[in-house]
Amino acid sequence: MEPVSNPDLALLLATGTGDLSACADEAALRVWNTRYFGEKGEMVAAMKKLPTLPPTERKGYGQEANRVKLQLGEAYGKALEAESEKALLASVNATPLDITLPGRPPRRGNLHPATKMMREIYGIFADMGFQVFRTREVEDDETNFELLNMPPHHPARDMWDTFHTTTPGVLLRTHTSPGQIHVMKQFCPGPIRAVLPGMCYRFEAISTRSEIQFQQVEGLAIGEGVTMADLKGTIGAFARRLFGQERQVRFRSSYFPFTEPSIEVDIDWPKEDPNADRLTKGTGWLEIMGAGMIHPTVLRNGGYDPEKVSGFAFGMGPQRIAMLRHAIDNIRLFWGNDLRFLSRF
Ligand code: DAH
Repeated sequence: MEPVSNPDLALLLATGTGDLSACADEAALRVWNTRYFGEKGEMVAAMKKLPTLPPTERKGYGQEANRVKLQLGEAYGKALEAESEKALLASVNATPLDITLPGRPPRRGNLHPATKMMREIYGIFADMGFQVFRTREVEDDETNFELLNMPPHHPARDMWDTFHTTTPGVLLRTHTSPGQIHVMKQFCPGPIRAVLPGMCYRFEAISTRSEIQFQQVEGLAIGEGVTMADLKGTIGAFARRLFGQERQVRFRSSYFPFTEPSIEVDIDWPKEDPNADRLTKGTGWLEIMGAGMIHPTVLRNGGYDPEKVSGFAFGMGPQRIAMLRHAIDNIRLFWGNDLRFLSRF
């Protein structure tokens, strides 16, 4: 900027600048601003002098006055900015910011324990070449019972307490076994290796061990020359993958109308587990599923010729398995929607 030659204006610039640098805080700066730039301030007063001057001096004075105004205005702006930065720094130093504190983590949801269990089971069977095949939850009596070798009034039906709908013959499936009929009809006469997961329903008194809804995973393999040895090998491999390589598997003979012969499968429970006695009722063995060689009548109902092919099937309750795994003592927790329970998994 050019120097200011008018002595009054030069003085105004010098005192204005000097006063500004003497301001210690923002309040002082504001007072300074009123004093120099307010309605009755020094700058206005300097401008008012203009008409009193001889006309030849007015132009030069006016230009210089404007320069002074500009210079003081800029200096004020800078001082104000510096002051607010200083104030910010002071407040930061007064309450130090601990940047080592961990941030607030975003809340993440998690999969339902039943979903996790199901996925783990699918994974193990997928490795053995089984595909996942879903079938309906609302079934007809024919598929849920009759085609599985349980004609009306067959005493074996007593094993399943059933929810019937108001439409005769339509019910909520009591097990995933009717899925066997659906998958057979779809793949017949080709070979099958599939697991059939899903929700099942039974009209039961709800207790810590029984619910009116629960999941099952059915499995079946059909082809030429499928034998009981294949069943044992498959289930043994599955149980050891799920519960540990050191686990032993025991097969007991049993009865189901849709398999012949029928078995139930137990695994030995680690004796070190303090719950072992309670879980195994003192036997050391724990039942995990029913299974068997598919009954010739059932094969025929699915469209296969039992003279040509054979197959095995099994059915298990993943909620029971999850209960064993995680020492969950109440089956009602699975569908109770209590987040305190669900968020633990
Ligand atoms: N459906 C039977 C139940 O709910 C379980 C079962 C047993 C399934 C033997 C099978 C099987 O496929 O072969 O109790």
